[in-house]
This record gives sequence, C-alpha cells and structure tokens, in this order.
Amino acid sequence: MDFGEVIRRRRMIRQYLDTPVPTESLDRIVDAALRAPSAGFAQGQSLIVITDRDQRERIAQAANEQDYVDRGYPRWLSVAPVHVVVTVSEEAYLDRYRESDKLGPDLDTLDWDVPYWWVDGGATMMAILLAVVNEGLAAGFQGSHNFDDLSAVLGVPDTIMPLGVITIGFGAADDQSRGSARRDRRLQADTVHYDRW
Ligand SMILES: Cc1cc2nc3c(=O)[nH]c(=O)nc-3n(C[C@H](O)[C@H](O)[C@H](O)COP(=O)(O)O)c2cc1C
Repeated sequence: MDFGEVIRRRRMIRQYLDTPVPTESLDRIVDAALRAPSAGFAQGQSLIVITDRDQRERIAQAANEQDYVDRGYPRWLSVAPVHVVVTVSEEAYLDRYRESDKLGPDLDTLDWDVPYWWVDGGATMMAILLAVVNEGLAAGFQGSHNFDDLSAVLGVPDTIMPLGVITIGFGAADDQSRGSARRDRRLQADTVHYDRW
C-alpha cells in the first residue's frame, strides 16, 4: 500500500470480526515493530503477542470489559483475535547510558526530562499501527487503568512496564465506536510552527 494511504487510513478500531489474523501478516507486523528507533539503541522495548483465547479473555477481564459492556459498549478486547502489548524497560536505558560512549558515571546526575523509554515505546506502537494498516488489518489501543492486573496476567517482571493493549484484527465494517468524544483534527495552521513557536 502507498505510504500516504497507510497514514491516512490509520484509525483506532475497536470492533473486529472473529477471523484469525494470518501468521505471515503478524510476523511482518512484529518485524516492523522491531524496526522502531530507540535512544542510544538501547532497545528497551519488548512485545508480548497474545493470540490464545483464554489469555485474551483474562486481559479483557483485567481491563474490566464487562463494566463497559454493562454500560452499553460492545465487547472489544475479548473479540479482537490478536493483542500486542508493547513493554518498556527503564533499566535498559539506565544501563545503556552508563556505558562509556554515553554518559558513563554522569548518568547519576541526569534528570531524564524526557524519559526515552516512553518515547521509544510510542515509536514502537506507531510502527505497529501503521504496519497493521499496510496488511489490510485494523488496530486499536486501549490504555490500562489497572497495570497491576495486566502485568500479573502477562507475567511481566516488576521492572518491565506495559504501555497498554494494542488490538489487531479485521475491522468490523460497521465500527462506529469512538474512544473519545468526536472532535475535529487540529488545523495545520494552529499546530505547526515554522522557525519558532
Ligand atoms: C496513549 C493513547 C491512549 C489511548 N487510550 C485509549 C483508550 O483507553 N480507549 C480508547 O478507546 N481509545 C484510546 N486511544 C485512542 C484515541 O482515542 C484515538 O487515537 C484518538 O481519538 C484519535 O483517533 P484516531 O487514532 O482514530 O485517529 C488512545 C490513544 C493513545 C495514543
């Protein structure tokens, strides 16, 4: 697919057909995720790819899906045939930036105004979201309000932080769901500054 079209077509989709995602597509999506940049090439991002139905159900429970359903929303996480959880490791960056070609001992005085692990996690997410569209599939992202339960279900160590759940599948044609109230995309003139703010 043309890159511009991939960008334009990307939307968060929250309703899916119960059709499995082809393994080759999933492999290419994972491959794209691993091409994301990382500060110092620390590569502190990892992925958990979940296709097991029971595990997806447990993730949906950790996200209180039933509460949403009781409030009239359709099931989302439990229906999506694939979940991908991007995780980041702060430790990986601290270790990397302690190396001699980076900050070495000066690291201990560094105040991470921009914590690079979150930046890199977002870059990985975007790579996945775009690769999904390129495969003719759809993806959504659900942030978590209960990371303790999500981490427990996924069995991640204490030092590893999941960002939330990316859902992947064939989008339902009638998906009208919106995670947030509908608002207009900000105009370029209000958003982009040239040469200075
Ligand atoms: C960090 C982040 C967290 C989000 N969390 C949720 C969420 O918990 N539930 C949801 O329905 N959508 C969530 N979204 C999706 C946004 O609502 C969506 O990206 C935004 O409304 C713009 O729509 P679009 O991505 O389809 O263009 C999240 C997006 C981001 C980037």
